[in-house]
Amino acid sequence: MCGIIAYIGDQEALPRLIEGLRRLEYRGYDSAGVALIEPDGVWLRRAVGRVAGLAAETSDGCTSKVGIAHTRWATHGGVTLENTHPHLDATHRIAVVHNGIIENMEALKAVLIADGVEFLSETDTEVLPHLIRRHYTGDPLEAVRAALSHVHGTYGIAVAFADHPDVLIAARFGSPLVIGLGDGETVLASDPQAIVAHTRRVLYLDDREIAVISADGAKVQRLSGGDVNRDVSLIEADYAVAELGGHEHFMAKEIWEQPDALLRCLRGRVQIERGNAKLGGLNMTPRDMVNIREVVTVGCGTAYHAGMVGSMAIEHLARLPAHAEVASEFRNRHPIIPPDALYFAVSQSGETADTLGAVEEILVKGGQVMGVVNVVGSSIARTCGAGVYVYAGPEIAVASTKAFTSQVTALLVFTLMLARTRNQSLAQGENIARALLEAPDKLQEYLDDPGPIDAAADLVKDAKYCMFMGRGFSYPVALEGALKLKEISYVPCEAYPAGEMKHGPIAMLEDGTPVIVIAPRGSQRDKVISNIKEVQARGARTIIVHTRGDDEMARLADVSIPVPEVREFISPLLTVVPLQLLAYKVGIALGRDIDKPRNLAKSVTVE
Ligand code: M6R
Repeated sequence: MCGIIAYIGDQEALPRLIEGLRRLEYRGYDSAGVALIEPDGVWLRRAVGRVAGLAAETSDGCTSKVGIAHTRWATHGGVTLENTHPHLDATHRIAVVHNGIIENMEALKAVLIADGVEFLSETDTEVLPHLIRRHYTGDPLEAVRAALSHVHGTYGIAVAFADHPDVLIAARFGSPLVIGLGDGETVLASDPQAIVAHTRRVLYLDDREIAVISADGAKVQRLSGGDVNRDVSLIEADYAVAELGGHEHFMAKEIWEQPDALLRCLRGRVQIERGNAKLGGLNMTPRDMVNIREVVTVGCGTAYHAGMVGSMAIEHLARLPAHAEVASEFRNRHPIIPPDALYFAVSQSGETADTLGAVEEILVKGGQVMGVVNVVGSSIARTCGAGVYVYAGPEIAVASTKAFTSQVTALLVFTLMLARTRNQSLAQGENIARALLEAPDKLQEYLDDPGPIDAAADLVKDAKYCMFMGRGFSYPVALEGALKLKEISYVPCEAYPAGEMKHGPIAMLEDGTPVIVIAPRGSQRDKVISNIKEVQARGARTIIVHTRGDDEMARLADVSIPVPEVREFISPLLTVVPLQLLAYKVGIALGRDIDKPRNLAKSVTVE
C-alpha cells in the first residue's frame, strides 16, 4: 500500500529518495512521486507506474538535500498523474505526502473552495497542503498542527516547506511512521525497510504525535501540545537482508526459508524435558492461563487462515473453546468481548488497518488482546503491548508464505503451554514438544524433494476453474492454497471443506476440472477418500497432497504429492508448502508478476 520516504541531511536527497521508494515497492503501488526543496521553490516530479519510470523523469537531476517522496496505491481517484503524490498548495511552496484516508475531505474541500482554492486532483490528500497554507503564519509545526485539528480520518504525513529548507514536519494518526536517526542525516519512512540503508537507530511515532525533523534528529510532540521523550529503538539486524539471494523471486526465497523461520520461532521457547514452552512476551503465569475460558484469533487473509489452524489446535489439544474471526467483519459488528477470553491479533506486517481496528475494539470493551506479529515495533505489536513475535524475518513478496507457517508455529507453541495447564500430562506435553521441534527438519525434508509440482502446475495453468478441498486441519490449508493461487496466478478457484461438496460446490465440476485435495493421514483421511471418489466420478482430475507412504492415496491421484509424516495438528505446516509452490509455478507458467501481483498491496493500511 502507499509508502512514504523523506530525507533531510548533508547528502543529495534525490538518489536517496528514489532508492527508498525502490525499497517500498514490495508494498504494492501504482504511481510514485518526489518533491525537493530548492532555493526558488518546490521541485516536483511524478510518474504513473513503476519507480523506474519516476527515476527516468528525474534524470535532469536536483542537488537539494531535503525532500519527500511517495508510492501511491489508489483509493480516492484513479491512477493518474494529477492524483499522484506529492500534492502542493496553490503557491507551490508547501508539499505533502500522505498515507491513510481523510474522511471529512468533502466538508474540508467545500470550505477551501469557498475560499477560492482550485483543486487539481481527485484525492483526499490534496486538502492537506491547502489547509496547511490556510494556517501558515511562518511556523511550519504550528501550521500542520492547526490544519490537522480539522481532519477526521487516518494519516501518516510528511510536509516540506520551501520557506524552511532546514526542517520537515511529520505527523501520525492510524498510519505508521518511523524516523531513522543517521549520521548527519535523518530519514522518515512509513516502513523500516526504507530506512535500514541509512541507520538502524529509529524513533517510532505514535498516534496523535507530530515531529519536527532536521538533519540533526527529531523533536516529537503530542498533537495536542507538549514534548514526548521517545526512546531510540534498534531495527532488527535481518531487515537489511531484502536481497534475492540467488532466487528468481522473493516468494521462492521465502518459501525456501521456512525451515529456518520455524526454527527461529521455536528456538528457546519449547522444552521437551518440561513438556512445555515459554513465551515471555505474553507475561502470563500458568494461573492466568487456567483462567482463560475462550481463545479467539483475529486477522485477515493468510493471517486469518493461520488463526483458524491455531484455534483448531487449541480446541483439539487444550480442549478449550476457540475460533478464528475475520478482522474486517469483527471490528464492524459491535462484537461481544467476554472478559475471560484471550484474543490474538495475527498479522505479518503488524499494520493491517482492519486488524488494528479489531485490537482497538477489543481494548475499548475491556478485553485482553495479544499480538502474533512478525514486524517488531509495528503498530499492532505496540498497541497490544504483549504477545509473540514470530521471527519469520522480512517478508517481501506480497503473497505471504513463511509468515503463515511461522504464525501457525507460534500459535502451536502457545497451544502447548495452554494444554499443559489444562489436560495434557508431562508425557503428552513431551510428545507435543518433540513434534513441534521436529517440524523444521520435516519441512526441510519436504523441500529437498518437493514432488511433481510441475505436473500439478500443468494441470492447473490452463484450467478455467479449479477447487481446493480438505477436512479438519486441512480445511484452512485448502483456503490458504486457493488464496495463494488466486493472488499469484489469477486462476479462478475456491476452497471448501470436503464434506460440503455435496451441498452445492460439486455442481461446478466438469470433465477435467482440477481438484486439489489436502489429505494427510489422521482422523479425517478415510472420509476424504469418499470425497475424492465423488469428485472423480464427476470427471475431476485430482492433485492429492498426502502423507509419504500412503500408497492408497497415491494411487487415487492424477498427481500425487507426498509430504513427510507428522502429527495431525502439525500437518498444515507441511501440506501448505506444496500449495505455495503450485501457485508459484502456475504464476511463472502464466508470466505473472510474482512478487507484485496486480491490484494487491503487501500491507493493507486502509480499511
Ligand atoms: O500483514 P498482515 O498479516 O496483517 O496481512 C493480512 C493480509 O492482508 C495478508 O495475509 C494477505 O492476505 C496476503 N497477501 C496473503 O498472501
